Amino acid sequence: MIEVIPTGKALGAEIRGADLSQALDPADAGTIMDAWSEHLVLLFRNQFISDPELISFSRYFGDLDLCPPNATGKQYSAEHPELIIVSNVIVDGEPMGSLGDGELRWHTDMSNHPVPPKASILHALEVSSEGGETEFCNMYSATSELPEHLRSAIAGKWAHQDGTYDSAGAPQRSVEVAGVRTESPYARHPLMRRHPDTDRPVLYLGRRPKQYIVGMDAEESEKLLDALWAHATQRKYVWTHEWRVGDLIIWDNRCIMHRRNAFPADSRRTMHRTQVTGAAIIAA
Ligand code: OGA
Ligand code: MN
Repeated sequence: MIEVIPTGKALGAEIRGADLSQALDPADAGTIMDAWSEHLVLLFRNQFISDPELISFSRYFGDLDLCPPNATGKQYSAEHPELIIVSNVIVDGEPMGSLGDGELRWHTDMSNHPVPPKASILHALEVSSEGGETEFCNMYSATSELPEHLRSAIAGKWAHQDGTYDSAGAPQRSVEVAGVRTESPYARHPLMRRHPDTDRPVLYLGRRPKQYIVGMDAEESEKLLDALWAHATQRKYVWTHEWRVGDLIIWDNRCIMHRRNAFPADSRRTMHRTQVTGAAIIAA
């Protein structure tokens, strides 16, 4: 029997009684989908599953993206091209995965791409002795409490979502050609989008560095973006997760943002990750 236990915070629920190494009973899969739609981030504890099992579970949510270009320039697994590794562990002088040990600023995944992922899934294989918590913020709540002057200021506006740096601040290898920096890959998305499953309008902020509002005076754009980001990331919209080995978390990239606390460099932290293919963003 599957149980859904809400965090009691701004978003998130733990799902108990699911064994993700096995195919899901259709009724359980339905309960999980409904819980995801309601709570936006789901936590499953004690999932000591293999990569193929992680990939099979991920496919309940849709098709999977292949490992996207990253700061290490590598696809992580020849056997499983969908697999992404988030890790600070260095093997033979090379990082085994992305994102290092530093703080990750608030973002939603791959907003600089034309079709960002619908969902991302992290499975914890090694966790840091301290720090490394991941925080999630509820953009539906931030949207419904958006002050009227901010709502009208962004009506019909789009943002330039920059991809020069990843969320750890590392230059993305995909913009370096033969050692020469080329123009950063970017996308432009509406600041107010429609969630394709719920049809609700939701603020889409993406990633802050080098971001600007298209067609707006630069200084005005900075001021407005600062106000939007300050509003959306208030603590009342946030749930913080402290990782244990075997935790698996799925989040909805269309209506949440996330960040990570830094952790000690001498502490190993390794997550295996998949991302579920999204659809083009529709303005609300
Ligand atoms: C990610 C990410 C956060 C973390 O994988 O997209 O932001 O806690 N990870 O490692
Ligand atoms: Mn991320």
